[in-house]
Amino acid sequence: MVIKKIAILFSGTGSNLEKLLAFLHQQTFEHCKIEVVATICNRPNAAGIEKSRAYGIEPIIIDHTRYASREAFDEALVEAIVKSGAELTVLAGFMRFLTPYFTEHIKAINLHPSLLPLFKGGNAIKESFESPMKVAGISIHYVSEELDGGEIIAQRCFEKYEGMPFEDFEAKIHALEHELLPETVKNLLNRN
Ligand code: GRF
Repeated sequence: MVIKKIAILFSGTGSNLEKLLAFLHQQTFEHCKIEVVATICNRPNAAGIEKSRAYGIEPIIIDHTRYASREAFDEALVEAIVKSGAELTVLAGFMRFLTPYFTEHIKAINLHPSLLPLFKGGNAIKESFESPMKVAGISIHYVSEELDGGEIIAQRCFEKYEGMPFEDFEAKIHALEHELLPETVKNLLNRN
């Protein structure tokens, strides 16, 4: 059985990290077994740290505030990922801009809470909620030099209903993320 190794990067709550661990870690699929070989977090107090520990994986903390530049931080990230042996890196709520140094060295995918190419950047949920569009959704895309601009791999959408409260909108976004991200990672890896 082929073992496919992944690394997961996160910054905060870690609900997507938890879904990835629950659905994929040490799970056997038709063509492979998936192993999460590293979880990496840039914030020493992130709630997701405990979620990773619950699966027996001690997160690697790479605190961005301790690095003089984005490049120096990315060099540390790349070193940790390469050392882990991961062939695919999943950005699951990882809130840092990455430099070309990262994208040149690491094959990574990112979860973004809008229907790209609309609403790139850090305010996607609010912007798509406030837009006149009748649908909203989420995207998973390859990480490229351009922020939220790499090739789209998968998307899922829903219809906004009249008077939909922001809390319901946000909850719907997260529910779709929790389904689509593990499924997409599995589909990318579980191939002949
Ligand atoms: C998700 O909505 C993700 O799309 C966004 O940050 C959130 C992370 O949530 N970029 P969590 O840490 O996985 O709970």
